Amino acid sequence: MERKIFEDERVYDIAEQIYARTDVTPSVGLILGSGWGAVCRGLEEPITISYASLQNMPTCGVKGHSGNFVFGKLGCKNVVVAQGRFHLYEGKEFSDVLMPIKVMYALGIDTLILTNAAGGLNRAYRRGDLMVLKDHINFTFRNPLIGEKATEEYPVFCDMTNVYDEAIRNIILEECEALGLCAHSGVYIQVLGPSYETPAEIQAFSKLGADAVGMSTVVEAVFAKYLRLKVAAISGITNMGAGIEDERLDHHDVLSQARKNEENYSMLIKRVVKRI
Ligand code: HPA
Repeated sequence: MERKIFEDERVYDIAEQIYARTDVTPSVGLILGSGWGAVCRGLEEPITISYASLQNMPTCGVKGHSGNFVFGKLGCKNVVVAQGRFHLYEGKEFSDVLMPIKVMYALGIDTLILTNAAGGLNRAYRRGDLMVLKDHINFTFRNPLIGEKATEEYPVFCDMTNVYDEAIRNIILEECEALGLCAHSGVYIQVLGPSYETPAEIQAFSKLGADAVGMSTVVEAVFAKYLRLKVAAISGITNMGAGIEDERLDHHDVLSQARKNEENYSMLIKRVVKRI
């Protein structure tokens, strides 16, 4: 097996178990957040491998996140989809949070597309819009590279000037336009969660330059950049940040809003993957 760069042997044990069950060699990896699950239904010749069936693989505990790797073809490309991710707010360590990316990397991906549900901070955004990440703010105050072995080939002091691949960003924006989906290009701020923000925090994050807020993605993007993968990320705006509109935030409302656009999002991803 190639790409043996991680010290955590579980990664290679999991990859071996996957090799025993599929011979698909993926070039693109996708991590699906809330509202993006339909992407899996668009896969040709899908092979689903649940996290629970893989020894040493962490499993998901959050409602709305299934916990499977799904292999298949999307727009003629071999892909692996991580359906369900691990969050710091579950009390998970980075060794678990990053496991799907590490496994996908060991399997050979060169591009990673991250998706999530997020709260809109930019007053021009509306529920149901999309935001293509052009940059991010890590407000978790935890860096996923802490403890990673620094090597000549993989320095942990890695550049974060252009985390999100410009060419893929443009493709996503073009395909959104072609599909009639309202998409913005913006800055995402990751918080730890799991509580939602206060109105004062939302105002503060706006002043810091963030356009949307969520509880995932940034630490994954940093890690993927360290691995020198091409990275892209898209947020589905499920609500406006606390205090912007006159309503309370409810996890169930966020999930049900996220699911409203699943079919469109699935079509979008298919068209994007075809072009990268
Ligand atoms: N805040 C944080 N995370 C979120 C939100 C939010 O408003 N909406 C969806 N995920």
